[in-house]
Amino acid sequence: MAHLEVTPLHPALGAEIAGVDLSAPVDEPTRHALSRALAEHLALVFRGQTLTPAQYLAAASVFGPPMEQHYSQHNMPGFPLIGLIWHRNGQQPAEQWHTDHTNRERPPAATILYGVEIPSAGGGTSVASMRAAYTALPVDERRRLESLTTFNSLERERSDTRQADLEKYGAPIEHPMVRTHPVDGSRAVYFHITKATHIGGMTPEASRAYMADLIERMIRPEIVYQHAWRKGDVLVIDDRATMHRAHGDYDRSQNRVLWRIVVEGDRPRLV
Ligand SMILES: [Fe+2]
Repeated sequence: MAHLEVTPLHPALGAEIAGVDLSAPVDEPTRHALSRALAEHLALVFRGQTLTPAQYLAAASVFGPPMEQHYSQHNMPGFPLIGLIWHRNGQQPAEQWHTDHTNRERPPAATILYGVEIPSAGGGTSVASMRAAYTALPVDERRRLESLTTFNSLERERSDTRQADLEKYGAPIEHPMVRTHPVDGSRAVYFHITKATHIGGMTPEASRAYMADLIERMIRPEIVYQHAWRKGDVLVIDDRATMHRAHGDYDRSQNRVLWRIVVEGDRPRLV
């Protein structure tokens, strides 16, 4: 087994992992240790990696089976399980707090990003602990959230979504607003403000207003790790217990290229 060195990056979440070369096969005990580390720290950073697309896919599968991403126009040619995050593709940085692909019955356990080209300043990725957010809510509100579910679909207002992706991934999927982590049994607040068409029993407008209010109240600097990218970083984000956002504060004449893989997780449930 690899000797893992785990260095926390922030009091609430995030840890740097040293001692693993992701371009080489990862043995079973190391896989297990990394899966536990992800559940504990919610964001893992591996520095100085040099990966081909095939090596990157093999490394990502440590955290679950890579799954299809629904903006298929941004897939890497020849590697449909890797999405390219690159503004010159016409993408806007995802600056709103969210977790990924909640319109799937089994949404991602993790989103994995590999820094291929990094601007000289800005362009970070922030990750917020929804486990800490849950714990900090008043008891009454925790109980209320535990009784609520969201209905999730692909954003209809996005004009760049392909019809084929809408047909495949646009059916409404119901998820609890508080979910239990399958690895460590902790609870976290779970929703995607624009993929949720509504909260059960509420109008779309009231649902959106409540989710916006929750984000505003829950996400404070104490529960956010902001990742400053270096070329060669691999950032693994636990989508079951965090929200993340990109920072668009970089010079658009420079490149910011991240390779994204999402790996399938369990069906969210509250136990
Ligand atoms: Fe995302």
